[in-house]
Amino acid sequence: MARYKIALIGGGQIGGNLALIAAEKELGDIVIFDIPKMEGIVKGKALDIMQLRPHDGYDVNINGTSDYKDIEGSDVIVITAGIPRKPGMDREDLMSINLDIMKDVAKNVKEYAPDSFVIVISNPLDAMVYTFYKVSGFSKNNVVGMAGALDSGRFRTFIAMETGYSVQDITCMVLGGHGDSMVPITRLATVGGVPLTDIVSAERLTEIEDRTRFAGGEIVKLLGNGSAYYAPAQCAMEMAESYLKDKKRVIPCAALCEGEFGIDGYFIGVPTVIGCGGVEKILEIKLNADERSMLNNTLDVVKKTVSETCL
Ligand code: APR
Repeated sequence: MARYKIALIGGGQIGGNLALIAAEKELGDIVIFDIPKMEGIVKGKALDIMQLRPHDGYDVNINGTSDYKDIEGSDVIVITAGIPRKPGMDREDLMSINLDIMKDVAKNVKEYAPDSFVIVISNPLDAMVYTFYKVSGFSKNNVVGMAGALDSGRFRTFIAMETGYSVQDITCMVLGGHGDSMVPITRLATVGGVPLTDIVSAERLTEIEDRTRFAGGEIVKLLGNGSAYYAPAQCAMEMAESYLKDKKRVIPCAALCEGEFGIDGYFIGVPTVIGCGGVEKILEIKLNADERSMLNNTLDVVKKTVSETCL
């Protein structure tokens, strides 16, 4: 069987790490695409990762390009094209610039990789994934936004830091939009099956939820120039791997809801099953009144952001 092909649209901070992780997981050959002005940089990154091969032993090829023809026939596309958040900017400030970029990317992906599974990372995520879906005309199963995996991972990290227990044994999910209105479902979080609410006080849990909501901004402030890139890249590659290997992992992702959770026509963070059919299923859970009200609130925020796309 021929190797899979993975194209990364945007070869900046996240793009470079996506290439590295995809190579280390030996998921397939990798193309890093960026605009002509960045061609030298993506070619350089590709060569550098190629030269890691003898040490790590992975047999995949990595190429940098600014020619969309090179993404032809890709199985997976991961989009980070756009500009990242700068200090003082919220995700919505990025809208007008990244919207035009996403429309251009969607047209080209449709032309050169019409059967691919597409993972969108560019912010504002909820609007960008919607834009890709609308402009490309792809099926809803083949378009997904990476957000919930990262937000849930951040929540898990802060719980591990709080309790001192292994992050591996912490399960939890964060639903809703990828912004400050996200909804951590703390009630269902466990540490090795033990309810988190039995281990950590309600007061501390509220603080951890708040830190999770603003975790992206915390990193933006610390970096001073750009936004998080290691964890976002890892999360997207876990999603790509679940698709390529038909693992059917259950991952919170921004998927198109058509009635699930009472939401219709919007991409929003929900528990999804990712396998060879792309987003194969959305798993619904019974929400309590508080969670339902938070989900309604985050949906209003997502609706407002999406309305700004004018699509
Ligand atoms: N087509 C392809 N790539 C583009 C285009 C375009 N039309 N316009 C810009 N890019 C490229 C930039 O040249 C840059 O290399 O997208 C890349 C973005 O990389 P970074 O600026 O390093 O940003 P990064 O940290 O990788 O984040 C990318 O993900 O999390 C989000 O908010 C973040 O929207 C941002 C995106």
